[in-house]
Amino acid sequence: MPSYNTDELKKRFIVIEGIDGAGTTTQMKFLAEYLRARGYRCATTSEPTEGSIGILIRSILSGERRVAPSTVAYLFASDRNEHLFGSDGIVEQVESGSIVISDRYALSSLAYQGLTCGEELPLRLNGTFPAPGLTLLFDIAPEVAIERINSRPKKEIYETLEFQKRVCEMYRKMANRLQSQGWNIERIEANADIETVHHEILSKVVSFLGASATR
Ligand code: TYD
Repeated sequence: MPSYNTDELKKRFIVIEGIDGAGTTTQMKFLAEYLRARGYRCATTSEPTEGSIGILIRSILSGERRVAPSTVAYLFASDRNEHLFGSDGIVEQVESGSIVISDRYALSSLAYQGLTCGEELPLRLNGTFPAPGLTLLFDIAPEVAIERINSRPKKEIYETLEFQKRVCEMYRKMANRLQSQGWNIERIEANADIETVHHEILSKVVSFLGASATR
């Protein structure tokens, strides 16, 4: 395992999680804008990444390429490893003093791949990745989320109501598990309008950053 400073990640690495259509991407953008306007250095990123493994994953999610479900779990874990430890990755950015916000991280694999290939493999593949300082888990009714997805032009393989209902349950189960292992996870009531959700996020993030994060 590469060396890294856990304390820095605990102070400045924030993750946003939720089922498809939960609004994580929009809220990450607003949160980053808020923090930058207040003088914080803040980078945003997402998984799957835009790197070569992430691109391969996208071709599987679109249905263009088919592989065994367990292969998908390995690919997400490899993409995450590069995301963390690769050049200009999360660890490097956090250690240089920047806040890093990621749209999805290991909890996504425990929820989605936990359903498609069983709980054991994603738990094993992700077990050594560092915990973020704060994970915001968006809690939204799958029926509301799926309506947002249906208005998008392109669909991905996981984007059905039946599957998203199961992902929602799995998120809850895995979040409880990670919390009992010391992860700091806050639930965000994400059925509300964009502005209300943004303010709920701010209250969690501001108290998390407290006086510890440098500007
Ligand atoms: P998503 O953030 O929804 O991207 P976009 O809105 O651009 O389509 O992520 C794509 C999908 O990848 C989503 O269905 C969740 C899935 N996913 C996993 O199955 N496992 C993982 O570990 C990650 C990070 C994502």
